[in-house]
Amino acid sequence: MKKIAIVFTILFFGFVNLNKADEGMWIPLLIEKFNIEDMQEKGFKLSAEDIYSINKACIKDAIVIFGRGCTGDLVSDQGLLLTNHHCGYGAIQKHSSIEHDYLTDGFWAMNKTQELPNPNLTVKFLNRIEDVTDKVLGNVAENLSEKEREVIIVANIEKIKTEAIGETQLIASVKPFYYGNQYYLFVYEEYKDVRLVGAPPSAIGKFGGDTDNWVWPRHTGDFSIFRIYADKDNKPAEYSPDNVPYKPKKFLPISIKGINEGDFTWVLGYPGGTMQYITSDAIKLIKDVRNPDRIMLRDKRLDVMNAYMDRNDTIRIKYASKHARISNSWKRWKGEIIGLERLNAIDNKVEFEKEFNEWASNHNEYKNVVSELTNIYGNIEKYVVAYDYYREAIMAVEIVNFAARFNDLIKMKDADIEKELRDIKIEELKKRMQDFYKDYIQSIDQEIFNELLPMYYSNVDQEFIPDLSGLGLSDNYSQFIESLFSSTIFNNKDKMLELLNSESEDNFKVLENDPVFKFYKTFNELYTNEVFPVYDSLDNRANNLYRNYMKGIMEMQKHKVLFPDANFTMRVSYGEVKGSYPRDGVEYIYQTTLDGIIEKDNPNIYDYDVPDKLKDLYKTKDYGMYEVDGTVPVCFIATNHTTGGNSGSPVLDSEGNLIGLNFDRVWEGIMSDMVFDPEQSRNISLDIRYVLFIVDKFAGAQHLINEMTIIE
Ligand code: ARG
Ligand code: ASP
Repeated sequence: MKKIAIVFTILFFGFVNLNKADEGMWIPLLIEKFNIEDMQEKGFKLSAEDIYSINKACIKDAIVIFGRGCTGDLVSDQGLLLTNHHCGYGAIQKHSSIEHDYLTDGFWAMNKTQELPNPNLTVKFLNRIEDVTDKVLGNVAENLSEKEREVIIVANIEKIKTEAIGETQLIASVKPFYYGNQYYLFVYEEYKDVRLVGAPPSAIGKFGGDTDNWVWPRHTGDFSIFRIYADKDNKPAEYSPDNVPYKPKKFLPISIKGINEGDFTWVLGYPGGTMQYITSDAIKLIKDVRNPDRIMLRDKRLDVMNAYMDRNDTIRIKYASKHARISNSWKRWKGEIIGLERLNAIDNKVEFEKEFNEWASNHNEYKNVVSELTNIYGNIEKYVVAYDYYREAIMAVEIVNFAARFNDLIKMKDADIEKELRDIKIEELKKRMQDFYKDYIQSIDQEIFNELLPMYYSNVDQEFIPDLSGLGLSDNYSQFIESLFSSTIFNNKDKMLELLNSESEDNFKVLENDPVFKFYKTFNELYTNEVFPVYDSLDNRANNLYRNYMKGIMEMQKHKVLFPDANFTMRVSYGEVKGSYPRDGVEYIYQTTLDGIIEKDNPNIYDYDVPDKLKDLYKTKDYGMYEVDGTVPVCFIATNHTTGGNSGSPVLDSEGNLIGLNFDRVWEGIMSDMVFDPEQSRNISLDIRYVLFIVDKFAGAQHLINEMTIIE
């Protein structure tokens, strides 16, 4: 039925088919309506109600938002949870010290009393989803200005949220879909006592490091284990030793039956954001301007860091997390450019826009939308460039970024703010200060500053170049930067602590007059006055135009189901286990194994230094029930459409059993946030058998395996 519809639309309108096989991140509430038939045809054995239901326990009850940007999966009736190592990284790092270096050595709680609480780490369960489009847009008249429209929408959303929560502690969120053509309500329950249970050493959890990041074949054991605790009534509670393990409505059984190429798989998680419907101009801006700029700026930062990190282990540890964060997007941007070029993404979009405009010539309201968007992109470009340079060149300097954190405190000086509030802010800053100084090396920062500042001055539009002569900048950048460092207080931990601990009002003056703070403030004021307002208003107009454009696309393609861009709400992706052919003469097999870890082993390369214990297990072939053909499976690839935020998402089989943890995508298909390529776009998952093997044989934490339901 669906296939006929697609053929029909293509024949009649002749557009490029945007929805390719396995493309899409679908709303769980609408699976019954739009996807279940297709899913079952492809091998799914459950019903839509098994995925999402408000009447019975279902798989969505076993999935959580983990922290602020990942997904987690319940795997036992005692609140045991799996997510990625890179999602638990912050928590693991906070518990690490020289005496207990859990990042390096791993951590395993051998009983519940050893599990470690994590203030600020929460998980959110999704209670329900509701289509509230009518409630949000029902009383919005046609001919309102965008401003008037927004006021009404904001009020409607507030009302919906308040009604949804009532007297409860639940959290409500209303999000726009299809650029504000539809709205959905999400109601969450947040649990606040989440404890660290286990993490492999980084040499397993981060094996391959940045070298292998975004790349197949992959051998990263990217998992960590937590447990959710609740009060005696199984309700959310702040951390307390009296709390008990949370009893989930539903947890995922784990299948170690094995996977084969062609097997149906699906992913249920929280993809953060995609841009499937942006125009050719937008792709051009990203591919030809934004990504190259940002890559070039990060190249400089990473070069400086690499040189220092290669020289010295202490430095490597201090900068490991920063380096990983900076290089993650840097590498993705590079891959996006290659992928968009290979796919002729711009030409295809131009072609599609032509078809759209032809169709729109008979539909007045959409007639000019594409050309108006073109105008916006023409106007916004220099602001986007400036904004990128602000973030990637000015605020990328650690000391400037750190000084900026004091802006709020300094503002409190003039405002009539109670001392108590100020003290809270000061305490917060003191904590941040500890984190900052713990991993700060001035010579790295200064070298980076020396590289980035001249680049800002030579590449950003003249009108966004602030006058820093008052601060002493002539044309000798490094001399200027040297003078900033030698006269600032922000690089002096003791002085900063002393200052924050003393009650004197003069302290504000010291901070305010600090040259690094002034440097930041000069840029900040310029941006607040000249860049952000224009940028925001153009961006708003673009969004409003996209609302119309999207509406037009949906009308033009009314026989086709279009998926809404990801927006960090729960989604279903589905596809199959499948290798690929990335280049002439090269085939990617869908599975990697422990043998590949041993192949990569090289004690001289930090990213490939396999722990001795793992090598021993390899030698003795002590694989237990996780063995397949004399080895242990490690990672696999499939055609599920995923993005950032899907990390930690369960990869499930046709019966809803857990077979893997999603954690990455394959280099050749990495542009899938903009254009999904069925030939090359693959999600990378950790095979659940490798997780269990590490927990069982490497860590000796059989008690955790015993808690799980394993299907052999
Ligand atoms: N590329 C994956 C994602 O976007 C994994 C990132 C963590 N690993 C790393 N080496 N930086 O999150
Ligand atoms: N690694 C990403 C994450 O952390 C997943 C991806 O971008 O494919 O969510």
